[in-house]
Amino acid sequence: MALESLEEIATYIVADGKGILATDESNPTCGKRFDSIGVESTEENRRDYREMLFRAEGVKNNVGGVILFDETIRQKARDGTPLVDLITSQGALPGIKVDKGLKPLDDSPEETVTQGLDGLSERCSEYEKMGAKFAKWRAVIKIGDGIPTDDCINQNMEALSKYAKIVQFNKMVPIVEPEVLMEGNHSIERCFEVNSKTLNSLFNCLDKHQVNIKGTLLKPSMVTSGKDAENQAGVEEVAEQTLKCLLDNVPADIPGITFLSGGQSDIDATAHLDAMNKIGGFDWKLSFSYGRALQQPALKAWLGKDENIEAAQQALSHRALMNKKAATGEWSQSLEK
Ligand code: 13P
Repeated sequence: MALESLEEIATYIVADGKGILATDESNPTCGKRFDSIGVESTEENRRDYREMLFRAEGVKNNVGGVILFDETIRQKARDGTPLVDLITSQGALPGIKVDKGLKPLDDSPEETVTQGLDGLSERCSEYEKMGAKFAKWRAVIKIGDGIPTDDCINQNMEALSKYAKIVQFNKMVPIVEPEVLMEGNHSIERCFEVNSKTLNSLFNCLDKHQVNIKGTLLKPSMVTSGKDAENQAGVEEVAEQTLKCLLDNVPADIPGITFLSGGQSDIDATAHLDAMNKIGGFDWKLSFSYGRALQQPALKAWLGKDENIEAAQQALSHRALMNKKAATGEWSQSLEK
């Protein structure tokens, strides 16, 4: 894979309905996922789990990029092969989470700003030498009484833009992820409003920092009802509102938009993506960068046991294929077993 430019890398990741497998959970988050299946979160167990995912047959052809955590990009498979090499042998590009998590905002402590700009260029340079072709930084925007504040949106979009510039300087494609959380009882209209304001601020900031948009991928939330809202918007409404929000705020020349799943069920995440691609009318590739919505069935099938590896790999392969179909608008419920 001789991918010379940022544009080529970004385009490769989302070519032909491919998307991204997000496996960049921090150790505490991985611990929470493992708790749910009664597996201890040791370095070896995390390695075994991720090795199992990366070797799944369905990674080939359906996944264009895999996001790793710092520990994982340095790990080797049981047979000594670097995990990065397993990923590239599946035709996918390795990527790396480079943010350092969240810290409370001084003037609005229930909100957060993402940290990690200190020493970022040096870390990026090291990751690039280790084979990473793209990076990820996640900003978190909460919806609630009186929040998000303008200050929260501005500080987070400013940090995302500085990150993107530094990553491109180090020859990697930045994924910019402004996650608007689903937690809360807000309406889909309120979610639309907050996502619009956030994306508008983000693209103004990226422009101000002269980030090359053609060498960038956007990882947004979908526009949905809050998780605890009484009235839950259906698939068509989520698809229509999300597309309208993106068309209003995202430049046509960004090569790909790869959604996060954010706590949606695996089937909902696929159905929403499919509905948007069936509507069409946009220039970007509209695809997936799912963590939970790709991994959940595999995690449940695995349970930390070697004898379950094949079943777990089949579960991941199935979700990867279903989401590829959704990214080209060719999914239907009948394809789910
Ligand atoms: P989810 O799809 O589980 O939201 O994870 C994607 C991700 O990478 C969050 O930063």
